[in-house]
Amino acid sequence: MKVHFEGESREMHSLWMEGTEIKFIDQRLLPHKLEIFSAKNVKDVAFAIKDMVVRGAPAIGAAAALGMAQAKIQKEDRNKVANILRETRPTAQDLFTALDFMLKKIEEGADPKEAAKDYIDNILNKCRKIGEHGETLIKDDQRILTHCNAGALATVDYGTALSPIRLAHRGGKNIFVFVDETRPRLQGARLTAWELLNEGIPHALIADNAAGDFMQRGEIDMVIVGADRITQNGDFANKIGTYEKAVLAYENHIPFYVAAPITTFDFSLANGSAIPIEERSQEEVLKIGSELIAPSGTKARNPAFDVTFAKYVTGYITETGVFKAEEISSLKSHAIR
Ligand code: MRU
Repeated sequence: MKVHFEGESREMHSLWMEGTEIKFIDQRLLPHKLEIFSAKNVKDVAFAIKDMVVRGAPAIGAAAALGMAQAKIQKEDRNKVANILRETRPTAQDLFTALDFMLKKIEEGADPKEAAKDYIDNILNKCRKIGEHGETLIKDDQRILTHCNAGALATVDYGTALSPIRLAHRGGKNIFVFVDETRPRLQGARLTAWELLNEGIPHALIADNAAGDFMQRGEIDMVIVGADRITQNGDFANKIGTYEKAVLAYENHIPFYVAAPITTFDFSLANGSAIPIEERSQEEVLKIGSELIAPSGTKARNPAFDVTFAKYVTGYITETGVFKAEEISSLKSHAIR
């Protein structure tokens, strides 16, 4: 992705390895500060994932792959490290895909740094291909709604939901993006708007409760979101608020697409009711930044994700093409091994 860093415009990934340190763009500080967080050991990597220095399912998977490589170099017990990382964010399927991939590669005697590099290169290619397939669905002059951040920051580069948008814009299509602010952590306002601005893609930030109104007015032509976990029948978990956007799109006859690499598919779950949903701290809802926005003593609930049923999804944009829910089982043969 294109970023402005240390006085110059340059291309950067969301995370990478330098020696034995894992470097992350610190997503907690964007959009006002672009700083790099260095993880020196598994404790730092687990903190970075839990505290959302790095976030977004494919980026969490990539962080875990690098974390496993780092642990092997530091002669840590691989199962112990994998278990620490497994405990960080329960909903993101890519975390488990990456850990299983790395454990298998290490057991087979592969070089751990090479295995992690392969995993990350793979994610990068998958996201580019999601862009190529998804871009064909976007027509000139279309207005697209997206929720949360499913951009380069949430992957390694390109993004999932933002990849088709990026490639449509780069290809000269005139598009406009509506960005849900995405409370409580404001990934839309802080991260998606930042990525779109850096790439010069026309957009407007809207309040989380405004999408229905824009749909009713006929101002939204399609919705593209990412996913944290997609089950066999096409139900999927994504950032809290996705479900209501899907129902609204359905009601307003607006196509609703989910963009995700096959690493996000959980072929072991029959439907969305079995997806573990992370509940985060009350503080995230009660505060914006460090400012308390409710009377002191107020309690809050904070599920980080919700489940959207397959019936609301027009298609799943993956690295191998665009599929209907009924076709998901055919993707199993493409799962990363
Ligand atoms: O809590 P987050 O910021 O990790 O949630 C991220 C999302 O919900 C994304 O939409 C999803 O991980 C897909 S990212 C390509």
